[in-house]
Amino acid sequence: MMAEYILSIDQGTTTTRAFIIDRKGNYIGTASQKFQQIIPNPGWVEHDPNVIWQSVCNVIEEVTQKSGISYSQIKALGISNQRETTVVWDKITGEPIYNAIVWNSNQSLNIINQLKSVTNEEYIHKNTGLVMDPYFSASKIRWILDHNEGSQAEAEKGNLLFGTIDSWIIWKLTKGKLHATDHTNASRTMLFNIHRLEWDSHLLELFNIPRAMLPNVYPSSFYYGETDSSFFEGVKIPISGVAGNQQASLFGQLAFQSGQVKSTYGQGTFIVMNIGSKAKLSNNRLLTTIAYSIDGQINYALEGSALISGSAIEWLKDGLELFENIEDSETLALEANEKSPIYVVPTFRGMGAPYWEPDVRGAVLGMDEHTGKRELVLATFESLAYQVNDIIDLMESETEIELDVLHVDGGVAQNNFLIQFQADILNKTVSRVERLETTGLGAAYLAGLAVDYWKDLNELKALVSESEIFQPNMTQIERMTKLKSWHNALKTVRYYSQ
Ligand code: G3P
Repeated sequence: MMAEYILSIDQGTTTTRAFIIDRKGNYIGTASQKFQQIIPNPGWVEHDPNVIWQSVCNVIEEVTQKSGISYSQIKALGISNQRETTVVWDKITGEPIYNAIVWNSNQSLNIINQLKSVTNEEYIHKNTGLVMDPYFSASKIRWILDHNEGSQAEAEKGNLLFGTIDSWIIWKLTKGKLHATDHTNASRTMLFNIHRLEWDSHLLELFNIPRAMLPNVYPSSFYYGETDSSFFEGVKIPISGVAGNQQASLFGQLAFQSGQVKSTYGQGTFIVMNIGSKAKLSNNRLLTTIAYSIDGQINYALEGSALISGSAIEWLKDGLELFENIEDSETLALEANEKSPIYVVPTFRGMGAPYWEPDVRGAVLGMDEHTGKRELVLATFESLAYQVNDIIDLMESETEIELDVLHVDGGVAQNNFLIQFQADILNKTVSRVERLETTGLGAAYLAGLAVDYWKDLNELKALVSESEIFQPNMTQIERMTKLKSWHNALKTVRYYSQ
């Protein structure tokens, strides 16, 4: 019999990736494609859903060819995706009525501001685990319906569909047969009740969103259906794993135990702690979200994020043109003059947890005549680590669990300087997995579990990959001094933005 594999799609904010994964959790092949970010106005970010779909088709074809396997050897397909990003499309023509509004876009801020009240904020926190912010899908759907004439009426008639990117891909792969999402993605819309596991009628009313637009919600590891036979040379591939990318990477890190934490450094940095089967609400504006769902069992997570992180490094490269290749940034950081410390607060589009202040903008503080590009690069990397530190501090105090190891992954985590500084500033061991693409792995694991490619979580746990360990190596005085200056820098930008 020919060997069987899992195909995993990781549809991220800037890049679509595909992986072929074997029973041991090894990557047999990978393919990736970047796509265009559309910035119609400052603070707005959009994607063309058709371009995203095309990129998914391209990477699937490329990865299968590169791996030298046929479609009939693919046992199942898993999807992980940039979360919250919102698509509304016509059910009949299949055409999006507007670009996808991306998670990091602020264009629906006015809608949030108009609806903000203590009562609404409390209701949203209690029932969705989220804070009221344009980051989540609800206000983005409202914005699309407000800005496309006649669309509210069409949505009410059931002619328009809403989906996060997972739903869009599933709908396209099944040629419109399935309009579905999973619990993790639904939990990021600000319309989903994470306790009752259903769309929340009160919130649909508040945002005036017709129920007929919404996808069916299923577990993350579940037999959704098959791809249409017009793709993949007539082979119908089961779609059986779906999760938002940050939850998928928690799963890919095999962090199935309550108290385990991962931090993924991508465009933003997302820190997610598995908190088990009870949805604990945060007192400090961390998010409570669904980590994954399998066999009727829901696992919850606490999440905090630095909304700008890898994108700050891209700003250094493409915006300020300080270096040509991302790899050069580490050398520059190591050459910086440490006697002239500066602080970069890269809140280009507002602050995430625990502040949730969408109007705050960034700053560079503490410059002197020695400040140059090296110091700017160093301070930007440090800012990524400070943000993670602050979130982990909160998670520890809320859960009363003292973290011994932080598991890290994501493209930006390749940077040794950053990860060492992360260990130093946290004063904790940091473990960096060898297979940094844990997101694709997580979606593959979820898909494989549903079709008995892997039997259970115990079998997955045995697939743990090699990790590199970074031990803290900074004096307590230096650590406290740096953190104090960082927190003063945060106070300054928040004050300035009032
Ligand atoms: O919540 C947004 C997050 O899912 C984006 O992740 O890796 O595509 O930047 P990434």
